[in-house]
Amino acid sequence: MKESYYCNPAICCFLFILFSVLGSVHGRHDRGQLVPCFFIFGDSSFDNGNNDALPTLVKSNYPPYGIDFPAGPTGRFSNGRNIVDIISEFLGFDDYIPSFASTVGGEDILKGVNHASGGSGIRAESGQQYGARISMDGQLRNHQITVSHLINILGQNESGAKEYLNKCIYAAGLGTNDYVSNYFLPLLYPTSRIYTPEQYALVLAQQYSQQLKTLYTDYGARKIALFGLAQLGCAPSVVASNGATNGSACVDYINDAVQIFNNRLKRLVDELNGNLTDAKFIHVNVYEIASEATSYPSK
Ligand SMILES: *[C@@H]1O[C@H](CO)[C@@H](O)[C@H](O)[C@H]1NC(C)=O
Ligand SMILES: *[C@@H]1O[C@H](CO)[C@@H](O)[C@H](O)[C@H]1NC(C)=O
Ligand SMILES: *[C@@H]1O[C@H](CO)[C@@H](O)[C@H](O)[C@H]1NC(C)=O
Repeated sequence: MKESYYCNPAICCFLFILFSVLGSVHGRHDRGQLVPCFFIFGDSSFDNGNNDALPTLVKSNYPPYGIDFPAGPTGRFSNGRNIVDIISEFLGFDDYIPSFASTVGGEDILKGVNHASGGSGIRAESGQQYGARISMDGQLRNHQITVSHLINILGQNESGAKEYLNKCIYAAGLGTNDYVSNYFLPLLYPTSRIYTPEQYALVLAQQYSQQLKTLYTDYGARKIALFGLAQLGCAPSVVASNGATNGSACVDYINDAVQIFNNRLKRLVDELNGNLTDAKFIHVNVYEIASEATSYPSK
């Protein structure tokens, strides 16, 4: 059965914000693209192939916390879609942004690269119970490889390449595994004994802030969309492994911790916009998107 396109209000709202951020972009680029390039950092919600060659239980074809999205308006992207694929399509790209794993040594990095890795987190140790994954620091190291390769392809010096990189859109969505594959697995990780939820959200935000500043300072990122966390306490696997939820459909203490992180992230976005005035950071409220998604029957 063919699915007709529907734009979830939260996604439409996000796209509206995204396009207003892009207001300063002059003209269109190759093949009707709104921006020349799109770079992606994240976990299984964004991963489109980086984990396929890694010894891990988290493959992009089996995302534990991914959200299903309907086909986009052009029908060009038919399967394996996630929110970054939807955004790529709206930005006018004629294909998926290739995974880092598929681009090593190739020329197709001019349109951008997807660095996301299922099971990964802001913290290096998050998700280690799954096996190999590329944490945010690892994704930034891979981005460094991508950028030096890009400098060669463009045949420009570093400042010329940065001018190109300034025009790209960047999406980052991490933090889920720092909770469900770290903080809320007390038998495997000590973080919940070291930090209260407030303290943990703060240390995560501080580390994320450093990582995002690296993206800004070293690699010329200027338009960055930061995705908050979904209602992780409502994920069926989380509910199942928690047993009693006191009559709630979700595990409330997990959702409470997630909201503390999301509020921190919003503040981080405000501060980064205040401090790095030639950049634009936007916060994407996935908590609301996901709450709508969970009210639809899952596939
Ligand atoms: C980089 O190349 C541009 C021309 O493409 C030139 O104007 C600029 O001076 C160069 N910068 C450095 C640091 O070499
Ligand atoms: C259920 O309620 C008790 C007492 O308020 C609380 O300690 C516990 O964390 C709750 N359990 C869940 C799964 O939210
Ligand atoms: C922004 O700048 C203020 C003042 O210098 C500083 O206290 C704060 O830590 C900075 N925040 C970020 C996220 O860079």
